Amino acid sequence: MKVLVVGGGGREHALCWKISQSPLVEKTYCAPGNAGISRHAECVAIGVGDFDSLAQFVKKESVDLTVVGPEQPLCEGITDFFEKEGLLVFGPSKAAAELEGSKSFSKNLMKKYGIPTGGYSVFTDIGQAIAEISETEPPFVVKADGLAAGKGVIICASQAEGEEALRSMMERGAFGEAGTKVVIEEFLTGEEASFFAFTDGENILPLEPSQDHKPIFDGDKGPNTGGMGAYTPAPVVTDQLRQRIIDEVMVPTVRAMKSEGRAYRGILYAGLMIKDDDLKVLEFNCRFGDPEAQPLLMKMESDIVPILYSIARGEMKTDPIEWKEGFCVCVVMASRGYPGSYDKGVELKELMDFPDTRETVVFHAGTAFSEGKLVTSGGRVLGITSLGDTIEGSIRSAYKAVDSISDENLIYRTDIGKKALLRIGR
Ligand code: AMP
Ligand code: GLY
Repeated sequence: MKVLVVGGGGREHALCWKISQSPLVEKTYCAPGNAGISRHAECVAIGVGDFDSLAQFVKKESVDLTVVGPEQPLCEGITDFFEKEGLLVFGPSKAAAELEGSKSFSKNLMKKYGIPTGGYSVFTDIGQAIAEISETEPPFVVKADGLAAGKGVIICASQAEGEEALRSMMERGAFGEAGTKVVIEEFLTGEEASFFAFTDGENILPLEPSQDHKPIFDGDKGPNTGGMGAYTPAPVVTDQLRQRIIDEVMVPTVRAMKSEGRAYRGILYAGLMIKDDDLKVLEFNCRFGDPEAQPLLMKMESDIVPILYSIARGEMKTDPIEWKEGFCVCVVMASRGYPGSYDKGVELKELMDFPDTRETVVFHAGTAFSEGKLVTSGGRVLGITSLGDTIEGSIRSAYKAVDSISDENLIYRTDIGKKALLRIGR
């Protein structure tokens, strides 16, 4: 079978790495891909938003299955477009992807179907939004309703910060159309976890729990990023909690989407806040997490292709997923300056000959080839991912590789996995 992966970040590198190992797959393509992906897939210079060219490519090369990585094309309807052309695609329809594409849609759905989440209200009128925060005790959270490349969430420590957030979104158009509607949310505390399940719109196939590290600095300090590291499994999600997430969040959400006439087929990502026994959904996403996909896919023993293919056909295989033993951690190396401004095109000298091993794989996010050299091309550059028998062992392997790749142009957190270590104690 021939498979096309759409996207070009660390998540898509992990998808190409995993898919290309399947005995069912004779050829993997990636559009547009990146320098690291070109080791596992043929990269095709088509952007993720160019549905016409992607579909033409799929027809020309007789690609059997297209797997969509990022949220943008899903929310813009790539799945609907491909299905109209008679092409098999893994990823939810535009109507189903609204679970990520509109925070008010997602909050209203959770409220209607009793899925646990924090309190909120929705505004399209700035006067009413300001009146609401003048009566709300800080901290609270102001969110742009639509997609804002991970930047549309502002945690406000005072009413003045809240007003500024509202004005930037609703008056100054900081996130364009995405910020003309806002959600004001209760601020939740606890430990975050990510939970993923494959679904065909009816049944679910859960993955192991994982955890991202959103803030840029150690100890969860500083501004939020796309994610500076991840690991799986996440011991904050006990077996009992895992079952509750399935029963109280994943199954009811899939059922709710079906009842709303928006059957969700793909991978459903719940961002959760956990505090003792209290479980709440922070957000849903309509795709794999980045960087959570890197450790999850490295730890997955089962072939992923039959799962993706069967969901694209609307009839999911429900054999439980098998996992490699142990623990897997991914440490993200980013361009100095990220998540603010940073240089691109900086040479990655130490990386050129860095070999992947059974234990450690260097997934590329923002890399490119330029005049025969490997250079940076984005904020998050690499995801150093290591599998080990123990939490400690996998963290040690990942940071050993980080040390040998590290140079003055790359930054990374030094405490990825520490929360798991503190919980488990080894
Ligand atoms: P979201 O895109 O909605 O997941 O928000 C991105 C990040 O902002 C989350 O991973 C949390 O770290 C933080 N966040 C979002 N909503 C809340 C909330 N209601 N309370 C506390 N933190 C939040
Ligand atoms: N890990 C955060 C995200 O994929 O949105």
